Parts: sequence; structure tokens; C-alpha cells
Amino acid sequence: PRHIIIDTDPGQDDAVTILLALASPELTVDAITTVAGNVAVEQTARNACALLELAKRTDVPVYAGAERPLRKEPIYAANVHGETGMGGANLPPPVLLPQPEHAVDALIERLTAAARACSPITLVCLGPLTNIATALTRAPECLNGIEQIVAMGGAQREGGNITPTAEFNFFVDPDAADIVMKCGRPITLLPLDVTHRAIATPKRLAPIAALHTPVGEMVTRMLGAEDRFEKMKYGWEGGALHDPLTLGWLLRPEFFSGRHCNVTIECTAPLCLGQSIVDYWSVTTRTPNALWVDEIDAEAFYSFLAERLGRLK
Ligand code: BDR
Ligand code: CA
Repeated sequence: PRHIIIDTDPGQDDAVTILLALASPELTVDAITTVAGNVAVEQTARNACALLELAKRTDVPVYAGAERPLRKEPIYAANVHGETGMGGANLPPPVLLPQPEHAVDALIERLTAAARACSPITLVCLGPLTNIATALTRAPECLNGIEQIVAMGGAQREGGNITPTAEFNFFVDPDAADIVMKCGRPITLLPLDVTHRAIATPKRLAPIAALHTPVGEMVTRMLGAEDRFEKMKYGWEGGALHDPLTLGWLLRPEFFSGRHCNVTIECTAPLCLGQSIVDYWSVTTRTPNALWVDEIDAEAFYSFLAERLGRLK
């Protein structure tokens, strides 16, 4: 199996991604590192622990990481994900605790060991990129331990979801996103341009509800809630399900298409802070640094997701 570390800020859609990873035999989840994003970092770590208990996978270590972005003040998204970050999940408070080690130290340790052993790890990034950028800055030798980075972040065609131009993960910590985008390892981005084409409609969620397992019921409660943010705000048929598309792409790339291009992050201009500047038409000479994924077969993806979640009893 492919070894992955999930760096995340659960987060309703982060939660589904963690469950999808645990249900996928092609993957070994080496660790979950959490970051401040949708809610504060202690809460994102607690949520990761609660999910591991739900999936009966308390063998996976959780490390809490950055409390705040590199330079900006933190901002949260409790209005989208609920006060706990996993609105509607109603999981019991976890007994499992995060590891005492900081997520950045754990990343550095694991990635340098992976580099030494010539068995690099795939980073699946679902939140602001603060932990990853800090690890790369503090210990550049980590780079050789990274096979590839698959991240949810950015927006171009679709416009932003937190400012008119920026997507939430990149807006929260643009400086970190900039460092990661320049790191030189293979990067795949799943931006709003693709995630907004895979809305969690009642019809797509029905097979998950029909599982009648604790995981199926929890995911249905969380994603099927009548007050899901995008449903209320944009009048869509359901809420968005951004983060699981990272693993969708990793496990079923044939469901997706995109383009290799240069993606740069705006770190200073006030109106465009955190914007992903995508050279989609190669109008500059900047070298492509990412696969920008912008199309999905959403029906195929949701069938795959339901089948996988059904494996968690
Ligand atoms: C991203 O922001 C968060 O609220 C979601 O979990 C996702 O990672 C979407 O912009
Ligand atoms: Ca997230």
C-alpha cells in the first residue's frame, strides 16, 4: 500500500476524507497531523481522535500542530462546519489523546526517515498548509521524503469562497501555501473549480444513508443536514464536499481531469490575498508546478465513496 500522512483541520469534509482513507486498502495512514483552520487546533486534533474511535482505528497516531498561520491572524469557519468543526456528527468525546509530539516535529521525523529509507510518503493536505510549510522551512531535507503532495486548495474559474478571489485554505495561510507551491515536489491541487462540481445532493447521499452503519449514519447526519452552508448561502441542492476529492483523485484518477500549469499564491495584495494565480493558458514562461484538477465525474465519485464507506463496520 501507498503510505500517506493526512494533514487536516476537521472539518466536516475533512472527516469524510479521513474515513475514506481508513476504508481504502490501497493506503496505509501513517499519521494524522492537525492544524488550525476550520476550528482551533486542539479541536481539530480532538475531532481526528473521535473519528479514529468511530472507525475503530485508534492505532493511527494523531499529532496536533500549528496554532496559527505563519504571519496572519487565524480565522475559523465555525459558521460553515459548526462550533465543534464537525456539526451534525454528534460523536462522543474521544478517549484517545493526541501524541505529545508537535505535528511539525512528527512530520520532520517521519519524512526524513522516509527519505533515508528511500520510501517516500504522500502528503494529503486538507487544511491551511502551515504545518507542511513549517516542516519544509525548518528541515529542507524532508523534501526527499515526500513522494507527492495532494492538496485541497485554490480557486480560479469559480471565484473564492472566503473572499471574492480566494479559497479558504489558501486564504487562511497564504504564506504557507506559497512555500509549499514552490517546494519542487509533484503537487496536485483540487480547487473549488472541481469541488463545486461535486455537491452532496440528497440523491448522491442516499446510498451512504442506506448503509445503516454507524459511519454511514454519521456521514449522512453531517452532510445531509438541511442547514448545510452552501445550501443556505447559494441555494444549492446540497453542501460542498471538498476534501475527499484529494483521495478520489489519488485512488481513481480516471474520474478526474486537469492541466499541468504554474500556480502562484498572492501573499500581499489586500484584495487578492491568498488567491491562486493559475497560468492555465501558459501566458507566462513560469514552469508548471502543479496539476490543476478542474473536472470530475461526480456520479462515479459518489458511488465509489459509498462503496468504500460501507467497508467500515
Ligand atoms: C476548504 O475549507 C474548509 O472549510 C474545508 O474543510 C476545505 O478544506 C474549502 O475551501
Ligand atoms: Ca479542510
